[in-house]
Amino acid sequence: MCGIVAYLGEKEAYPILIEGLKRLEYRGYDSSGVALLDGDLAIYKKKGKVKELENHVASLDPNLKSTIGMAHTRWATHGKPDDLNAHPHKSGNGRLAIIHNGIIENYNTLKKALESRGHTFESETDTEVLIHLIEEVQEQKKLPLAEAVRLALNQVVGAYAIVVMDKNHPDQLVGAKLSSPLVFGIADDEYFLASDATPIIKYTNKVIYLEDGEVISLNKNGDYDIRNLANKRQDHEVLEIDLQMDEIEKGGYPHYMLKEIYQQPVTVAESMRGRVNASEGWAVLGGMSEHINRIAKSDRIILTACGTSWVAAMIAEYLFEDLARIPTEVEYASEFRYRNPIIRENDFIVALSQSGETADTLAAIKHAKSKGALIYGLVNVVGSSIARETHCGSYIHAGPEIGVASTKAFTSQLTVLTLMALYLGHHKGLIPENYFRKLLAELESIPNKIAKILKKDDQIKYIAGEIRNASNALYLGRGYNFPVALEGALKLKEISYIHAEGYPAAEMKHGPIALIDMYMPVIVLATNKSAYEKIFSNIQEVKARKGIVIAIVTEGDTMIKEVADFIIEIPETEEPLTPLLSVIPLQLLAYHIAVMRGCHVDQPRNLAKSVTVE
Ligand code: G6P
Repeated sequence: MCGIVAYLGEKEAYPILIEGLKRLEYRGYDSSGVALLDGDLAIYKKKGKVKELENHVASLDPNLKSTIGMAHTRWATHGKPDDLNAHPHKSGNGRLAIIHNGIIENYNTLKKALESRGHTFESETDTEVLIHLIEEVQEQKKLPLAEAVRLALNQVVGAYAIVVMDKNHPDQLVGAKLSSPLVFGIADDEYFLASDATPIIKYTNKVIYLEDGEVISLNKNGDYDIRNLANKRQDHEVLEIDLQMDEIEKGGYPHYMLKEIYQQPVTVAESMRGRVNASEGWAVLGGMSEHINRIAKSDRIILTACGTSWVAAMIAEYLFEDLARIPTEVEYASEFRYRNPIIRENDFIVALSQSGETADTLAAIKHAKSKGALIYGLVNVVGSSIARETHCGSYIHAGPEIGVASTKAFTSQLTVLTLMALYLGHHKGLIPENYFRKLLAELESIPNKIAKILKKDDQIKYIAGEIRNASNALYLGRGYNFPVALEGALKLKEISYIHAEGYPAAEMKHGPIALIDMYMPVIVLATNKSAYEKIFSNIQEVKARKGIVIAIVTEGDTMIKEVADFIIEIPETEEPLTPLLSVIPLQLLAYHIAVMRGCHVDQPRNLAKSVTVE
């Protein structure tokens, strides 16, 4: 939620900041702004995407020579998205500027107190309140900027990653973080602060991930000082990250989402690399092995996540109960955190998050940790907050996912969840050896089977054209395919703005059937394993009410072909692995419909990829 990037070095800051903002646009894109210091403090802000800001700045033809600057792309929390509420914000005396990702929860109390002392505000944001508070502390006590920032933050409740610049100190940036990410990049004679490493890696792979409650003061000569909120100096190791430029570019595809859908044969293989060997008959996860005895004895597994990661958790409930026979519950992180859940020391908590930064998920695991449970993270972004907050875990190794609607991270999560269930079930002696080896071999064949489904893209695009004008859509599935129906519906509504719902197929008769008419596309996951006959009956029920049936079936299916309007065949697999295949046509269907409707596929309205507010 909101992306921030700041630069201090020898080059012109403006183009570096604009390029950085474009990399961070996935975090929010309702308005953006940039602050530069070249004698004066110049701030340019514009409602809309970063391109609008660029056009605005170009139309002013200003002096852009500054070698220090900072920029922000916003996802509005306090105050509507407009030019005034866009960041950076200035202090009342015009000397300081701030960019901020997060929420200042006690901003109203702080604002009233500041107003009573004569401060006036231009915007509706919590961020402007914070910079006035920093200004007040700095002026009252005649403090260096970093010290004023630290003392002001001691009065703040909420979440923040901030960068502050001072007109009187054009060689210095001050940053701080709590619950929102901030990465410090160190190149030769140039330094960066950013929400993630993507704006930085073109210049350096040397970074420090700041910890919660840390304030960094950074000088042009390369000196930096990191302290916690209690003013204790903090030492950090400089890490070398492994991220390449081509991983964060579109690589010839029109959208990141399409690139990421097409990457799945490779990313799913990456997720299982070194973790499974069917011919030798083993599956192991390094993150689990150290705790395997404790995990195997768990009374309960609780999976917690948001969005698409929550859907992956739903599939894991089927996997863990089916293969490892441990009672499993799935919790929306936002609800889990705030409903006083019963968590015991022998519960095993698994947090799933592509970004590793989702605020609700982070809060949920902090709460569960305080109750003594073992916390496992299934995260994509290396070094992210959730990865660092958990006791143990596995990276899913999907590579950077930039399209806001999650695709390849979902199938990578499913791959690692399947490995977890197999490892656990096998360790407990619950999976017959033959079946275990069969599942491992099947898992290894999934990348090729996904590649085969991707070859049906033209057919899926044709079907997309037939239903693109629908106002509603229903997705139905049973068993392992029920959560896939949820994911199909989520993808469609996220990017095409068609209202869509996923339902267990048998539940259709308890409500959604009332909606079915000749305009209603019903996407049915009808692969050939359990409950095939029952789902066949559900299709008949839809057809009897003139609904348009698009069925995802197993290759060679003859029965459903007779009744469905459209079918998409997918290769046969073992039932627990079905979601890894059945979700692929649904991703492509949503993608093509959204493109045909002229929607902004990679940056759907009102959404953000990394939701760092609760
Ligand atoms: C946002 C994104 C979704 C994502 C969800 C959870 O809503 O738009 O695509 O599934 O956050 O994000 P996480 O990074 O925790 O998986």
